[in-house]
Amino acid sequence: MTVMITGGAGFVGSHICVELIHAGRKVVVYDNFCNSHPEVINRIRRITGTAPEVVRGDVRDVEALISALSAHGCSAVIHLAGLKSVADSVSKSTEYYDCNVVGTLRLAQAMQQTGVRNIVFSSSATVYGEPDMLPLREDHKLAPFSPYGRTKMQAEELLSDIAQSQSPLNVVILRYFNPVGSHESGLIGEDPNGIPNNLMPYISRVAIGRLPVLNVYGNDYPTPDGTGIRDYVHVADLAAGHVAALDCADKQRVLKVNLGTGRGTSVLELVDAYAGACGKTIPITFAPRRAGDIASYYASAELAANVLGWHAKRGIAEMCRDAWNWQRKNPNGYLDQ
Ligand code: UFG
Repeated sequence: MTVMITGGAGFVGSHICVELIHAGRKVVVYDNFCNSHPEVINRIRRITGTAPEVVRGDVRDVEALISALSAHGCSAVIHLAGLKSVADSVSKSTEYYDCNVVGTLRLAQAMQQTGVRNIVFSSSATVYGEPDMLPLREDHKLAPFSPYGRTKMQAEELLSDIAQSQSPLNVVILRYFNPVGSHESGLIGEDPNGIPNNLMPYISRVAIGRLPVLNVYGNDYPTPDGTGIRDYVHVADLAAGHVAALDCADKQRVLKVNLGTGRGTSVLELVDAYAGACGKTIPITFAPRRAGDIASYYASAELAANVLGWHAKRGIAEMCRDAWNWQRKNPNGYLDQ
């Protein structure tokens, strides 16, 4: 079975490549490298002994998608290519809708034209918005509060509609909580451009000395220690969830599943765990709440266990150990090739 992974050179995508190759699948990475580094392909080869095929292309380019899908005989697609900064999605909303929504539509058209039926889509827990109830179940209402979240919701909707059309696709929608950590080898990991927006890569850069101090956004949330609570999930577990999703793709026309651990961790708890993993103190300073942030957010992981037979195996200590291992071995990310 050959699987195309759009956005396969990114943080999550590279870990899925490793997982799929280990599971005996052939992999085609379709990526325009706008937010990833070509060195990642060598690293995947070093981990698995096999280099994936690479097609440099844009997800909005139907012709390029059609020729890649047919030239490589793909039988399924994992679709991750997209823009993912909540802040940029406000200032550059046209680009976000074009890439995330139009890109998904173009990919679906290319799949219909080539007869590739199964798609696993990388969505986000951000589609839920402010939780009415925790843990967040898949039947919770969708009310995303950023353009980014709305592009993910609209991509989910268009795929769900196409699943019922005359030329149907089998769709598995995976709603990620907060992916962190890295492959245990430390050869691939999260390498954001510029100053990281997200907590774990920010802590890593403080730990390695590239940033002086972590700003903790808000210590007056209604949580036990006053800081935000999230459901961090190890990226290797998340990647395994995609292999499980592919195996279930033709059991049901549309499946929407959370990928999270079901456990919440506060900012201060994560900082403590990271300090334990790297053996250093992480300097912090309390800063005002970040606009749009929610106090507490974690998954119900029941459906994933029941339908995909998947659950996260790694805890916070392993997530911090592996994030630090990657950062320590690659202080400047993929530039240290
Ligand atoms: N935080 C800090 N300091 C930082 C960065 C983050 O205190 O420098 C805090 C945030 O306030 C929040 C927690 O750490 O309480 C996690 O923040 P992240 O930015 O790491 O993650 P978010 O949950 O805000 O966002 C992530 C993804 C989004 C996605 C969202 C919901 O980055 O793409 O989860 O699924 F939309």
